Amino acid sequence: QSNLISMSCKTCIIVGNGGILANKSLGQRIDQFDVVVRYLNEAPVKGFEKDVGSKTTMRITYPEGAIQKIERYEAQSLFVLSAFKALDFNWLRHMVFNQAGKSTDGFWKSVARRVPREPSDMRILNPYFIQEASFKLIGLPYNNGQMDSYIYVFQNIPTLGTVAITMALHNCDEVAVAGFGYNMSTPHAPLHYYEKIRMSAIKESWTHNISKEKEFLVKLVKAGVIQDWTNGICGAGC
Ligand SMILES: *[C@@H]1O[C@H](CO)[C@@H](O)[C@H](O)[C@H]1NC(C)=O
Ligand SMILES: *[C@@H]1O[C@H](CO)[C@@H](O)[C@H](O)[C@H]1NC(C)=O
Ligand SMILES: *[C@@H]1O[C@H](CO)[C@@H](O)[C@H](O)[C@H]1NC(C)=O
Repeated sequence: QSNLISMSCKTCIIVGNGGILANKSLGQRIDQFDVVVRYLNEAPVKGFEKDVGSKTTMRITYPEGAIQKIERYEAQSLFVLSAFKALDFNWLRHMVFNQAGKSTDGFWKSVARRVPREPSDMRILNPYFIQEASFKLIGLPYNNGQMDSYIYVFQNIPTLGTVAITMALHNCDEVAVAGFGYNMSTPHAPLHYYEKIRMSAIKESWTHNISKEKEFLVKLVKAGVIQDWTNGICGAGC
């Protein structure tokens, strides 16, 4: 992946998990980007290549979202930790040294006990991108800028999708997204491209302020800062 740094004009696409990706056959076009960013475990590539592509340059996750089944990891990709709390760094240390032990205690849900990646294929996302996404871009309440305690403040964490966009805006010459946006006026449409759950099953998030984030993403699309290949951020509205 070291050749990424030397590229003169880098094109990046952030692929979300929205059902809006289904049956659009965008896979080949997604694979043409220099950098394909995916996030969390729940957005598999295998079996969905036609719609979501087969290339993953990096997959951004936090411990609670990391893939637990080893066989579900894609063959190659950088494992990028987006750390929201001190415990997350501790967990990563155990993954790097391959010692599960008690590294899985203290999380709000069960976490992976092993990450099948060499340390050289692991990265820590610069926490600045999380802070910038939260406070400068989306405009979430500041809470003294405390990364560790702000996780407990209702709807106060940016989604990884927006964190990934923020990172890409710093590092790429062109940024596109696909699979973003939930359209609540189509309750029977699939929520995710990889499962049958419908839009109507969506619950209010206690961690993210979805409407506030959406305002920010709509601004980016309207200003032409990012291109939305599945048009789920604005719909007919931009
Ligand atoms: C995609 O196509 C398959 C097979 O034709 C169909 O079963 C499925 O409902 C479609 N999904 C969407 C979201 O249109
Ligand atoms: C989410 O953002 C909206 C503004 O878009 C604001 O009115 C609302 O109070 C926020 N929700 C919380 C829980 O802070
Ligand atoms: C949501 O779906 C409705 C009905 O298909 C459509 O008119 C509207 O533009 C969509 N909105 C977004 C944001 O995609």
